[in-house]
Amino acid sequence: MRDLATLTRQALDEVAASATLAALEEVRIRWLGKKGLLTDYLKSLGELPAADRPIAGAQINAAKTQVQSAIGVAQDALESASIEAKLVAGRIDVTLSGRGEARGSVHPVTRARLRIERIFRHSGFEVAAGPEIEDDFHNFKALNIPADHPARAMHDTFYFPDGRLLRTHTSPVQIRELKKGRLPLAMIMPGRVYRCDYDMTHSPMFHQVEGLVVDENVSFANLKATLEGFLRAFFERDLKMRLRPSYFPFTEPSAEVDMSCAFCDGAGCRVCKHTGWLEIAGCGMVHPHVFAAAGVDGERYTGYAFGMGIERLAMLRYGVSDLRLFFESDLRFLKQFGAV
Ligand code: DAH
Repeated sequence: MRDLATLTRQALDEVAASATLAALEEVRIRWLGKKGLLTDYLKSLGELPAADRPIAGAQINAAKTQVQSAIGVAQDALESASIEAKLVAGRIDVTLSGRGEARGSVHPVTRARLRIERIFRHSGFEVAAGPEIEDDFHNFKALNIPADHPARAMHDTFYFPDGRLLRTHTSPVQIRELKKGRLPLAMIMPGRVYRCDYDMTHSPMFHQVEGLVVDENVSFANLKATLEGFLRAFFERDLKMRLRPSYFPFTEPSAEVDMSCAFCDGAGCRVCKHTGWLEIAGCGMVHPHVFAAAGVDGERYTGYAFGMGIERLAMLRYGVSDLRLFFESDLRFLKQFGAV
């Protein structure tokens, strides 16, 4: 039994020396496991004289209990130390100051659109919108583009199986507004348009702004003055503008609007293909067929219309030379445009 006291002391020392839960578990197995040293000791009781067995048994059990409880105490201590260590490692200092909120910016195309709207509102124009999913009537037929018209080939239309389509221009909004029968009117109609086309200078979705003024005695001179006034206000520069005779099915006569190149001031550069001019809009006097399709009395009213690409205007105003930048969502590019 003197042995037992020595063994117990040794076991308790090992428990006390265990620095980790794993080490402690090894100690438990060595002493109290099925083949543990104290367990073996208990098994050797059979070799003692019968009279000594009860006392010796009780002593061995007491030693086991003592070691067992020492292990329990050590285990609790190690477990709470490990929880404490995790808490310290993961501590969040709520008194630290924040990283700050990044201020968003308005997309340059939106910025250009808002600028266009503001300028036209100042001249008494209303701003209207129409659906991006259109039907053949509004996108083509009512605009004097019948089914076999060659102009359709230029539109690269996205069609839905049911015959509807993604509008290829904002001109169908003219029809929708004219059909309301509220004349006279002066409005612009900005929005997204879609064409099945993608390269350096074309995106399958882009933005246009349509203009329409209908009243008695509206003239081509009014159209020219409006466009000139707009360009001066939009670019805040004394840019030259010229009209070139052109053709659109929904206007007669029709013209294309050029302005002196904003990149080289008309001297000639890569952007303007060394012509000194950039095309920025199509325009003309509303065709009688358009008035007829929309139920407007073309004997009484005349009107002018124009259509411009908003990306184009944004590129020229902000000096962006690649259209694709508008659609790549690159924050380094977008961050350069602040709030409106
Ligand atoms: N709808 C034409 C296009 O998408 C642009 C246009 C030209 C609009 C002349 C007009 C206009 O209102 O009068 O290319």
